Amino acid sequence: MIISLISQKGGVGKSALARLLAVEVARAGWAVKIADLDPAQGTSTKWKARRDQAELHPEVAVEKYRTVDRAIKEAERFDLMILDGPAHAEQGGRVMAQNSDLVLMPTGYSLDDMEPQIEAAYELEDAGVPSDRIFFCFCRAKGSDAEDRAARTYLGKARMNVLEPTFPELASIRQGHAEGRAASEVPFPKVQAKAIAVAQAIMNRLPGVKEAA
Ligand SMILES: Nc1ncnc2c1ncn2[C@@H]1O[C@H](COP(=O)(O)OP(=O)(O)OP(=O)(O)O)[C@@H](O)[C@H]1O
Ligand SMILES: [Mg+2]
Repeated sequence: MIISLISQKGGVGKSALARLLAVEVARAGWAVKIADLDPAQGTSTKWKARRDQAELHPEVAVEKYRTVDRAIKEAERFDLMILDGPAHAEQGGRVMAQNSDLVLMPTGYSLDDMEPQIEAAYELEDAGVPSDRIFFCFCRAKGSDAEDRAARTYLGKARMNVLEPTFPELASIRQGHAEGRAASEVPFPKVQAKAIAVAQAIMNRLPGVKEAA
């Protein structure tokens, strides 16, 4: 299976979501790999180096790919390939999405964040990606419940699917990332639980995966 992380804007939380998901599915026993499709920046690759240095488990495979096509070909060898895309992926993003079982579009609560993502999602739909495969996820979220509700209403009006759990922006997650951890591996049970809920909600959207009890 293939999951793509796509965004128009940079820094919305694609790579954070990629590592969270990779760690949680690896814990569930899946063979998983993150395809780092921003080789110049190499965020996921650098995180993997820190993770190896800290000898954290489970081990997560990460590799840089210069082309989307190569990453897609490699996906056959894994239970799940996570395509961690660059910002402004445009054509590459289209190919990623067309080949994915699930497309995740991280966004913040602001109109400035949501609008370009909605436009990007419409473009993917126009390119033949089924709308029921595209899910928005509030990432790096900081805001009140009222702001969360308003943002959900806005996305709902634009006919976008939104994952129920939000991925909060927290200092402990930032610190965890610096140590090669995913958000579900920080030393605070409440933060862990929030992160795991996000990963679980994503896994539940994959075809053939049963809803968690
Ligand atoms: N939930 C979070 N809590 C705290 N910090 C976070 C969280 N998610 C992401 N970050 C931090 O925010 C920054 C941007 O996140 P990330 O690299 O995941 O975004 P991105 O969409 O992959 O960016 P790019 O478009 O540059 O690839 C990073 O410094 C990351 O460590
Ligand atoms: Mg990234």
